[in-house]
Amino acid sequence: MASLSDRVGIITGASAGIGEALTHDLARAGARLVINARREARLAEIASQYPAGQVAVVAGDAGDPKTVTRLLDACKEAHGQEANLVVVNAGRGLRGSVTDSNTEEWDEMIRTNITGACHLMREAARTLRAQLPDPASDASAFDAAWKRLVDTGGPARDIVVIGSTVGRHISPFSSMYGSTKFAVNSLAEALRRELAKFGVRVTLIEPGIVRTEFQESAGYEMDGFGKFMNSISPVLTAQDISRSIMFTISQPAGVHVSDILIRPTRQEYP
Ligand SMILES: NC(=O)c1ccc[n+]([C@@H]2O[C@H](COP(=O)([O-])OP(=O)(O)OC[C@H]3O[C@@H](n4cnc5c(N)ncnc54)[C@H](OP(=O)(O)O)[C@@H]3O)[C@@H](O)[C@H]2O)c1
Repeated sequence: MASLSDRVGIITGASAGIGEALTHDLARAGARLVINARREARLAEIASQYPAGQVAVVAGDAGDPKTVTRLLDACKEAHGQEANLVVVNAGRGLRGSVTDSNTEEWDEMIRTNITGACHLMREAARTLRAQLPDPASDASAFDAAWKRLVDTGGPARDIVVIGSTVGRHISPFSSMYGSTKFAVNSLAEALRRELAKFGVRVTLIEPGIVRTEFQESAGYEMDGFGKFMNSISPVLTAQDISRSIMFTISQPAGVHVSDILIRPTRQEYP
């Protein structure tokens, strides 16, 4: 893996699963990071595995816009520069459909998976976009800066959004959760179209079944779901998803692998 020492990244949902695996891959490649989740002790333990100052911790609810502001600020405070990589990963599942899921969990899921994701996408877009001149007000200054960045292999600017296969293919068994990922799917593609002209990449990663804490925190009935996972084994690991993210963000700044749908080989559906 090439060095990513010119990347300064924010990762939400980094205390477990995909976010944790990605934190390790990025930190090992030399990136400087700000990691977020609600469980501070787990974040601190992860950060302690790297040289002092390389991985900063901002504990808090990613659904709260104040946490989003703290994340952006922490990059400047801890690393002396703004983020050029933002991974919108914090999220949770929910067992059941619109008719049989627990309505008391709807709001929290929507707040984490959609509203919080939107706040982070919005602030990330503003921050990353402003790192080169605005082509609308000074096209030649933008062109020169963009050419210099591409020619010198300068750091790309990435917003990576974690969607899901159930955000592209309808699953009646988890339709409430799936609806949040359909939202994220359309938001990510819309943001990609909005930011492409500024040279900012917005990438959607859509995993199938990944064995993480996700299944349990979503409240899946693990006897039945465990049997299903075994029947299509091996299901994906968090490392599989992290590897895909590392692939896309490591492309030269002028190349964009904008959407990766990744399933266990034996997962037919969704
Ligand atoms: N696993 C799958 O099969 C699968 C498939 C497709 C997509 N995904 C998506 O992948 C992403 C990561 O999931 P995962 O599989 O890695 O699950 P996970 O192991 O349960 O990890 C979820 C992470 O998000 C954090 N988190 C949850 N709610 C949060 C909040 N309100 N504020 C801040 N952090 C929060 C959790 O930490 P704390 O509890 O410490 O806050 C944890 O670090 C999610 O967006 C999920 O929807 C997962």
